[in-house]
Amino acid sequence: MTQPARPPIAPSRPAHPIRVVPPPRPLSVPGLLRAVIRNPIEAWPQVVYEEPVYRRRLAGRDTVFITDPELVRLVLVDHADSFGKADAMLRALQPALGDGLLTADGERWRWQRRAGSPIFRHERILGFLPEMIAAAERTRDAWLARDGATIEVAHEMMRTTFDIIVETMLSGRRGIPVEAVERSITEYLDSTSWNVAYALIGAPRWTPYPGRKRAERARDYLRAEVLRVVAERRAAEEKRPDLIGLLLEASDPETGRAMSDRELADNLLTFITAGHETTALALTWTFYLLDLYPEIADRVRAEIEAVTGGGSLAPEHVGRLAYTRQVLQEAMRLYPPAPIIARDALEEVTVGDVHIPARASVLLPVYAMHRHVRIWDEPDRFDPDRFAPEAVKARHRYAYLPFGAGPRICIGMSFALLEAAAILAVLLPAIRLRAATAEPPSLKLRITLRPGAGLPMRVAARR
Ligand code: HEM
Repeated sequence: MTQPARPPIAPSRPAHPIRVVPPPRPLSVPGLLRAVIRNPIEAWPQVVYEEPVYRRRLAGRDTVFITDPELVRLVLVDHADSFGKADAMLRALQPALGDGLLTADGERWRWQRRAGSPIFRHERILGFLPEMIAAAERTRDAWLARDGATIEVAHEMMRTTFDIIVETMLSGRRGIPVEAVERSITEYLDSTSWNVAYALIGAPRWTPYPGRKRAERARDYLRAEVLRVVAERRAAEEKRPDLIGLLLEASDPETGRAMSDRELADNLLTFITAGHETTALALTWTFYLLDLYPEIADRVRAEIEAVTGGGSLAPEHVGRLAYTRQVLQEAMRLYPPAPIIARDALEEVTVGDVHIPARASVLLPVYAMHRHVRIWDEPDRFDPDRFAPEAVKARHRYAYLPFGAGPRICIGMSFALLEAAAILAVLLPAIRLRAATAEPPSLKLRITLRPGAGLPMRVAARR
């Protein structure tokens, strides 16, 4: 199929979605460390995009990249108990998130997962739609008031999804300053690639690195904010059926004890960060792609118009936006907000014909899987029809992993998909966003996949 025609916005702006250009051959150890610190995704060699398995030995330890969907299934599902969260990820995230749901393993993980699950049941999530739509409408109105201005889309989407997470999970506990939280998350995440690089060479956790003090200040600020929320709720008479309410009520099935303030803070911070940044990035990359492919944007608008009859979006409309959802899924294929899933082997294990020694690092490079030449036709092309029901049925279930899989699959998956579709369906009919600069965004992996210097776009009101 040919690339859809598109009028150029600026002479130097490429009409194809941007991608990371991988090193043609594996890097030397010093080159690899430099790449990991700069942008870990630039350290993955070309072979990761072409072969089902690639292994390398580093500091006496095996690193195994797996992209074959069947092997991925074996790692994440069948042999899930043989793997734990990767030391590199834990070093990067535990200073902020402690032993919350994302970073805990074993029994500690299991009871926290059980405690948080009721709020993610289907009917419960549907009940959050009015808040999701209202937050999107506030963003739409703010944008309409700035017709012709340039906005930073990643920041705008973070604000919108932050509003939603606070409204739905913390019963609208306003007063958490979004700007300061967003800045602190960015400052904290900025330091994470040092932790990942140090983990690769087995350096101790206390090893200094540039920006460590700033990252620690950011972490202290974030933890103080959530501890304040915990203290307020403990002091409040009234019980509320939100996430904090559920966690306050939960008791460990083995010991019967309730969560400590520290455990509550670990989980609140986990849900606040994991629950808004990823969805905001999925939407940010979607806006970038819809600008490159205006005919696809038109098709999404036509679907929204057909479903809403041209009126306001109502909660019952969102489940009927099938093509809108396909667009989001395809955007998350090209730009998965969580572009790598990392595990360490807890024991020696053989998956398919791949032998994995105990302690080996097993990397599922989601970004590379989503552009793998053995899985996708013309992998760099944006084509939401790849997610039409028949096309999905014809593909291996584990070829597409934006939310992970197996017992550690994202607990917020349905929440995120509904939320993102609702936000698009409110914004797209009212507004068109056009790239504000000729320079395309860059791709930066800092646990999540961000546009390196944000995504400036110009607002144009449509009616
Ligand atoms: C587009 C949006 C999102 C993406 C791409 C995403 C992606 C992921 C991925 C890949 C994992 C698995 C990590 C692993 O296996 O190592 C995960 C786990 C998790 N996600 Fe999400 N997520 C999104 C939205 C959300 C939302 C909205 C929430 C909460 C409201 C959330 C909360 C969590 C939590 C708590 C975990 C840890 C679950 C566990 O280990 O049991 N995520 N997410």
